[in-house]
Amino acid sequence: MTVTFRREGNAGLVELANPPVNAMGLAVRRGLLEAVRWAEAEAGLDRIVVSGQGRAFAAGGDAREFDGEPVPPHLPDVLDAIEACPVPWIAAAHGVALGGGAELMLACRYRIAAPGTRIGLPEVTLGVVPGAGGTQRLPRLVGLAAAVDMIATGKPVTADDAYEMGLVDAVADDPVAHALALDAAELAARSALSSLDGPEPDEMAIDKARASVARRMRGQVAPEKAIDLVALSVSEPFAGALRQERETFIALRTTDQARALRHIFFAERAAKAPDWLDAEAQRIESAIVVGGGTMGAGIAYALLLAGIAVTVIETDADGAERARAHVASIMEASAARGLLGEDKRARIEAALTISTDYADGASADLAIEAAFESMEVKKVVFSALEEALPTHAVLATNTSYLDLDEIAATLKSPSRLVGLHFFAPAHIMKLLEIVQGAATSHAALATGFDLARRLRKVPVLSGVCDGFIGNRILARYREAADTLLMDGATPWQIDEAMVAFGYAMGPYEAQDLSGLDIAYANRKRQAETRDPNRRYIPIADRMVHEGRLGKKTGVGWYRYPGGGGKVEDPLVEDLVAEEAHFAKVARRDFTSEDIERRLLLAMINEAADILAEGIAQSAADIDLVTVFGYGFPRWRGGLMHHADTLAVDAILADLRALETEDPIVWRPSAAIVACAERGIGFAEYRPGS
Ligand code: COA
Repeated sequence: MTVTFRREGNAGLVELANPPVNAMGLAVRRGLLEAVRWAEAEAGLDRIVVSGQGRAFAAGGDAREFDGEPVPPHLPDVLDAIEACPVPWIAAAHGVALGGGAELMLACRYRIAAPGTRIGLPEVTLGVVPGAGGTQRLPRLVGLAAAVDMIATGKPVTADDAYEMGLVDAVADDPVAHALALDAAELAARSALSSLDGPEPDEMAIDKARASVARRMRGQVAPEKAIDLVALSVSEPFAGALRQERETFIALRTTDQARALRHIFFAERAAKAPDWLDAEAQRIESAIVVGGGTMGAGIAYALLLAGIAVTVIETDADGAERARAHVASIMEASAARGLLGEDKRARIEAALTISTDYADGASADLAIEAAFESMEVKKVVFSALEEALPTHAVLATNTSYLDLDEIAATLKSPSRLVGLHFFAPAHIMKLLEIVQGAATSHAALATGFDLARRLRKVPVLSGVCDGFIGNRILARYREAADTLLMDGATPWQIDEAMVAFGYAMGPYEAQDLSGLDIAYANRKRQAETRDPNRRYIPIADRMVHEGRLGKKTGVGWYRYPGGGGKVEDPLVEDLVAEEAHFAKVARRDFTSEDIERRLLLAMINEAADILAEGIAQSAADIDLVTVFGYGFPRWRGGLMHHADTLAVDAILADLRALETEDPIVWRPSAAIVACAERGIGFAEYRPGS
């Protein structure tokens, strides 16, 4: 039974029982309707108390059903029946009440939440709008400004905030007991929200919400539509507005954006240790982080937040001082954002040791090396770690590019080594690439996945190659951008095209932020192994030679006068034109569409190779890497999901056309050819298949 109901005195107790989070699929909708009919038939009831079993009240409509035809009873009809029931319903919520779960609360006459309950209408984050009265009942309850804010951003509120704004009538430790103790006459006198007048008009609140989604959810359709619907509540009678809400919900469900957002939602939840791992994870109580630079400090802070004691190892007293300052500045920033209270801060400070002596972390169960990107340095560090740590400790490197197998070869037991590739800022970015070397043990891998779970990160398994999954794709993205630059585009045009596609910033602004010297050092390292027949664009090298390292030097691709916002720099256009002249390139114009198409094709082609080589386990893993580590627009579902919406045949045809221009760079990946021949998308492609 996914919904149970029973009588207790004059009360009917209805409980959602659809683990793990009471998603409101068909069985729940049917069960709720049955409960309504039961309540109508049962004599002498003065209330129905609805609650949820397990860790949630209800997580909303079952998103797995959104690809199919809607099957009755539909949620809005079920909620209308609850609202029209002669016995008043009371919502007794705990955990989360999201989407349809919050709408169920709104259909009740009285709402109670346990402390800490999160209530929200997050539908826009799945590319749809509330579809069961949320856009009409919520503004009638809490006013237009609060409702439009919640619905347009999708952000939930806590029980206390919900009480403050009038969304719930009470916050109680035991919401069901509270509901049972309510005065029956008072309950009976309560009105259904649908019978209330619409809220007072508030143009300013609507405009503010529109401006906010235009900025923060640029390119997405659902938030705009959600605002339109909330605005309707002022003037349109309830029933008509509800019809429009339903139509909008149904139409949005199967759009590319909604499919893409659902894909990422489920892919993120499916990102777990692969089932072929046959070893237990090492329990981690304390860890060593080697290197207290920006990356090391971020990793240390992430571990500390998860309750792991950390010893940061630096080379000398100055280094230790700098490491301390790095961690302190992260804590300051977190405290300023209200994310780190006094108590927690004190706990974290007590669990942190900064030292120059490995012996100070000698009981660690895990070591993460985040030292300088040099093979020599890494070898020295791992030899010291092997010396200092117990044999059960897992050893990890945060290297972005270096060969994990080469590092492992210097260890006495190479199977202890795993790659844990964090992304800066490490305490914020959700991606964790878990790199499996030739010798990496299942126990080390399982520990990596378990750590990701504890840090609330999205783990993706990667094989060893230059740049692993993410940076390898990034290198091709930058190469394609630099080629366009050489051949006629400007950095600003390229950035604008990718921002229009949905990135928060284009490749040149992003490089300015991270610093041009990092990729430069990497190109130098790769110089010996570079394919001499592949076209090389020296513009970025020249930028570095001229001291244009990006924002930190006040000038990179853009200028940053006074350390402020970016301005286009005509000197860069001159520099590029000069390089093109040296290289005897006849420059030409590119449209935004050309730019977007080439950059995406370059990434898709490389990603297809990554799949074919088995470096990534699935297209969905590449989607997670690009969305959670590299700013690919979530609402496009990640690189390979987007590629599948473009269709593999079209991609192959485009690559073939570009191949005439440069047969090395644009040679289609074997995986693309295989997909096209077999008529399958990347989502179905498996390495070696
Ligand atoms: N529809 C279908 N399945 C859902 C779901 C939904 N609305 N919400 C959660 N689930 C599933 C998850 O896919 C996961 O399945 P799995 O165990 O097979 O991987 C399981 O429920 C648990 O969810 P998870 O996110 O891992 O648990 P959590 O405790 O971290 O978070 C929620 C729970 C409810 C906060 C979170 O799942 C969530 O935000 N859900 C979406 C809510 C929403 O947007 N509702 C509106 C739908 S239009």
